[in-house]
Amino acid sequence: EMLEKGGYEHFMLKEIYEQPRSIRDCMRGRIYPQQGKVQLGGLKEYADKLKNVDRIIIVACGTSWHAGLVGEYLIEEYARVPVEVEYASEFRYRNPIITEKDVVIAISQSGETADTMAAIELAKEKGATIFGICNVVGASIPRTTHAGVYTHAGPEIGVASTKAFTAQVSVLTLIAFYIAQQRGTIARNKLIEYLTELNEIPELVEKALKANDHIQTIAAKFKDSRNCLFLGRGSSFPVALEGALKLKEISYIHAEGYPAAEMKHGPIALIDEEMPVVVIATKHSSYEKVISNIQEVKARGGKIIAVVTEGDTEVRNMADYIMEIPQTAEPFVPLLATIPLQLLSYHIAVMRGCNVDQPRNLAKSVTVE
Ligand code: AGP
Repeated sequence: EMLEKGGYEHFMLKEIYEQPRSIRDCMRGRIYPQQGKVQLGGLKEYADKLKNVDRIIIVACGTSWHAGLVGEYLIEEYARVPVEVEYASEFRYRNPIITEKDVVIAISQSGETADTMAAIELAKEKGATIFGICNVVGASIPRTTHAGVYTHAGPEIGVASTKAFTAQVSVLTLIAFYIAQQRGTIARNKLIEYLTELNEIPELVEKALKANDHIQTIAAKFKDSRNCLFLGRGSSFPVALEGALKLKEISYIHAEGYPAAEMKHGPIALIDEEMPVVVIATKHSSYEKVISNIQEVKARGGKIIAVVTEGDTEVRNMADYIMEIPQTAEPFVPLLATIPLQLLSYHIAVMRGCNVDQPRNLAKSVTVE
C-alpha cells in the first residue's frame, strides 16, 4: 500500500500533490494558447447547439456540485449564458422545468452517483441534451450522457475529493471559454491571454504546494477548534464551500462556507475569540469588499486565516495568519485558492488522529439515494 501511495502518508496527500500533473493532463490537447483556441473533441458535434443555447443546467452532488458553482460564474461571465446549478437529489424530485432547448451538464468524479444518474435520466426524458464531466472512464454516467469531457485526473482513492475537483474546475473553465468562442462573447486577444495564463496554472499549483510546511504550522494552531467559517466572494465563494466541506468530512470539525457579505445576515453572531474564519482575499475584483468583511470579523475578536495573493501586505497586516498563492488572472483563482484549503484540512485531520483517506460514515461513491 505504501508503494501505491507513492511514499506519501495518505492517498489524500498524494492526490493533492498530483494536481500539477492532473490539471496538465486535463488540458492536454484541448488548449492552443497561441491560436487562442479551445478544442473539446467530446463536444464537437454539439458546437452549434452550444452556440445557440439559452440556458444551461448543471446537476451534481457534494464537491462536484461546488465545481458546478464555479462553472456557473465562469460560463455566465465569459459565455454569457444563464446557468442554474442544482443538487441532483433536489432536481430529480421537484418536477423541474426542462425543455429540448436546454443543455444539462452532469458532473461526477465516479460517474456512478445515484442521484446524479437519476437527474440525467429525468432530463433526458424531457428531451434535453446531456453532457457529462466525469473522471472514471466508461462509468455509468458517461455511458448515459449524449456527450462529454473526461477530467483525466487519474484514479482518486481518498474519499475526500481533491484532484478530481480541480480537474472538474479546469474542464468547466475550458467549457466556458469553448462556449464563449462559439458565441463570440470573448475577444480573441483576451482568449490568447487567458489560455496562455491557464497553461501556466500547473506550475503555479506546484508553487502553491510549497506553502505546505507553513500551512502545517497554521493547522497546529487550529486543530482543536470546534467550528470554522469559510468566506469568499464571486467564484471564491464555491471555493469557500469546498474548503468547509473538506474540513468537516475529514476532521469532523463543524465548518460552514458563506459568501463573505452574507456573514452579517446571521453567521456573524457566531464570531468570538474561539472562531477561526478562513477568508479568500486575493487581489481581484472584490478585494476591497473582502477587506471590509475581514475588519468586521476582527472587530468581534475572530481569528482570520487569509488566502492572499503573493506579496500582499494589506491583508497580511490585518490577518492572524496568511496562506499565499501565486498571482493569477481572475478566472483561475479557484484552481489556486483551493490548494491551501486542501492542505489545511489535511493537516488538521492528521493532527486530530482522523482516518483522512476513509472518514467515518462516508463512501467514495454514493450509489444509493
Ligand atoms: C467529496 O469530498 C465528497 N466525498 C462527496 O461530496 C462527493 O463529491 C460526492 O459524493 C459526489 O461524488 P461524484 O463526484 O462521484 O458524483
